[in-house]
Amino acid sequence: MAKFLVQKSAPLRGEVKISGSKNAVLPIMAATLLTEEECTIKDVPALRDVDVMCELLENLGATVNKDLKNNRVNIAAEGDISYEAPFDLVKMMRASILVLGTLLLRTGRAVIHLPGGCAIGKRPVELHLKGLKALGVEINEDQLLRGIVDAKADELKGCTIYLDFPSVGATEVIIMAASLAKGITVLENAAQEPEIVDLANFLNKMGARIKGAGTDTIKIEGVERLKGVSHHVIPDRIEAGTFMVGAVITRGNVLVKNIVPDHLKAVIAKLRECGAEISMTDEGLRVRGDVNTIVSTDVKTLPYPGFPTDMQSPFMALLTVAKGPSVVIETVFENRFMHVGEFNRMGANIKTDGSCAIIPGDKSLQGAQVVATDLRAGAAVVLTGLVAEGTTEVTQIYHIDRGYENFVDKLRTLGANIMRMED
Ligand code: EPZ
Repeated sequence: MAKFLVQKSAPLRGEVKISGSKNAVLPIMAATLLTEEECTIKDVPALRDVDVMCELLENLGATVNKDLKNNRVNIAAEGDISYEAPFDLVKMMRASILVLGTLLLRTGRAVIHLPGGCAIGKRPVELHLKGLKALGVEINEDQLLRGIVDAKADELKGCTIYLDFPSVGATEVIIMAASLAKGITVLENAAQEPEIVDLANFLNKMGARIKGAGTDTIKIEGVERLKGVSHHVIPDRIEAGTFMVGAVITRGNVLVKNIVPDHLKAVIAKLRECGAEISMTDEGLRVRGDVNTIVSTDVKTLPYPGFPTDMQSPFMALLTVAKGPSVVIETVFENRFMHVGEFNRMGANIKTDGSCAIIPGDKSLQGAQVVATDLRAGAAVVLTGLVAEGTTEVTQIYHIDRGYENFVDKLRTLGANIMRMED
């Protein structure tokens, strides 16, 4: 089992270039099934989840040319496409559900075996299904009881859909399905994440007519067909936030390049509350943790534009060593404190009660054997490892490989003392 060995490191210094966004590229890759023409996607991060999505699309019958050395993928879903997503791929990546709407439009059918819950929650899809049913999709309820989404639709017709929660995945699935439905769909209480905007921009380039992406009301006018296009994926705001925390927790001075500062407003605001000095330059964001004392602040995760749940564990890493107590409230996922046990193994002494974590702060952490309990928590324990005394051994790092391209190389370039040990 591969692992990371992380030692107490000097303040991170230098510059890091952020990769394309995992959570933008996955729905965009699913959307390529909406045309038989070739699509070229650029700035694609070389991640396990991208590999799995490529394998899924190939398994469904698309021709996929993966050139991740140049961060590029060409996809042409021409001819017959299968409507069944195999369980062995879906269980590796929950985002496989994103092909649900596109398979229905392409083949009139979709069968996706849902994996159970995961570390951060049970991850239901009832909002995705509510939207599709409103568009005229039939869901086999008996199969659903067995955890299989077995859906069929002869024709999709636009309508008004209200999401009980601004689910990112449900918003993406509904946008994709409505783009080729008959008539107009209005999606209310939609997710507003930048990844939704990137998907809508990609679909509009293909010929879709989507307005309002990035707000809570999205209007989609169905069109007859969509064409193959080329598209650059937006930078990964969560990877960027992770490296920004790395600069602050080590009291370093790092230039974070290839980012969209607008996508990071909540993270920038909270880091500034902690005493970080963050300035925009024409090359990117200059993030300094070596100017002021780093103090604690409270955090509550919310759907975008609130503080992102994916930044909750990396930010908590900073709070374990910041001066003073803090409170973190996780409102998006019901079980996203698995990293607390790992931080406590290093001496953080965090207490949790339901969706609330109380971090005493001011700790001098000790290296320990810790586990990456999910993708973001894995990055978070690497961050605490950079400032803990001694060695921190991180296992189950396949989680980290899912969402952080060249994580070790980027950290080492900044002076981090980290190495990857294969079996
Ligand atoms: C996307 O997951 C991201 N994944 C997640 O990033 C991110 O944490 C999440 O959005 C929230 O921002 C991708 O984009 C591939 P949701 P998604 O549907 O779409 C509940 C990472 O680390 N919910 O917005 O699955 C759900 O249980 C990953 O990169 C329902 O109750 O998120 C959760 O509590 C982790 N019913 C909340 O909504 C539904 O039908 C947010 O889920 C759908 C969701």
